Amino acid sequence: MRLILLGPPGAGKGTQAAFITEKFGIPQISTGDMLRAAVKAQTPLGLEAKKIMDTGGLVSDDIIIGLVRDRLTQADCQDGYLFDGFPRTIPQADALKEAGVKLDFVVEIVVPEENIIERISGRRVHPASGRSYHTVFNPPKTPNTDDLTGEPLVQRDDDKEETVRNRLAVYREQTRPLVDYYSEWAASGNPDAPAYRQLSGLGAVDD
Ligand code: AP5
Ligand code: ZN
Repeated sequence: MRLILLGPPGAGKGTQAAFITEKFGIPQISTGDMLRAAVKAQTPLGLEAKKIMDTGGLVSDDIIIGLVRDRLTQADCQDGYLFDGFPRTIPQADALKEAGVKLDFVVEIVVPEENIIERISGRRVHPASGRSYHTVFNPPKTPNTDDLTGEPLVQRDDDKEETVRNRLAVYREQTRPLVDYYSEWAASGNPDAPAYRQLSGLGAVDD
């Protein structure tokens, strides 16, 4: 199974990805998590990416496409995977198509903008795994502590309100067009097109 989770920042892509990848036994390919790992390791890519991520902008298509291309050659990706936060621009989606990747589903998580700021402001993450919690909606068993490792949770650097507003604007301009891109492709009846599904992101975390 190969699928994309599409949706604005804070929609719950990472949260739902954890359930779906466990159910289907496939890896989660989160370009955001990959970039945060590079930032933490202070690689040249990470240092460059951090400047962009802190403003809420997008890292260049060439860098992201290269990262994903390398990731897809790894052994655990041969029987399927879930993309979280990729593709995020039309050129990224075109690159995936040109690489001949045959997707089964594109799932759009639909959440109104007014819910997003509150979700992101209460988010706490476990940096090593990318697991997300929420202080109110999805609290860890012990405050500020990852359920599985017992390690501390932190707030993401790009979760400041001003950065979040910019991430939302960037989503509207550069990523939202992928909703039409994939839904129109699915409606065209082309046998290569993945099925398109919308999922309400307003239910409980584990609905
Ligand atoms: P990335 O890490 O992909 O961030 P994002 O798309 O902004 O999405 P988030 O991780 O903020 O939200 P999410 O949808 O995963 O929500 P979550 O499950 O955590 O990207 C970060 C940056 O990296 C980008 O800004 C860009 O600079 C760069 N980047 C990454 N990929 C790139 C690419 N392909 N091209 C270029 N640049 C790229 O949930 C949010 C909160 O809500 C949590 O607290 C959660 O507990 C809570 N929650 C979840 N579900 C529910 C629910 N049903 N009810 C109530 N609360 C809920
Ligand atoms: Zn995420």
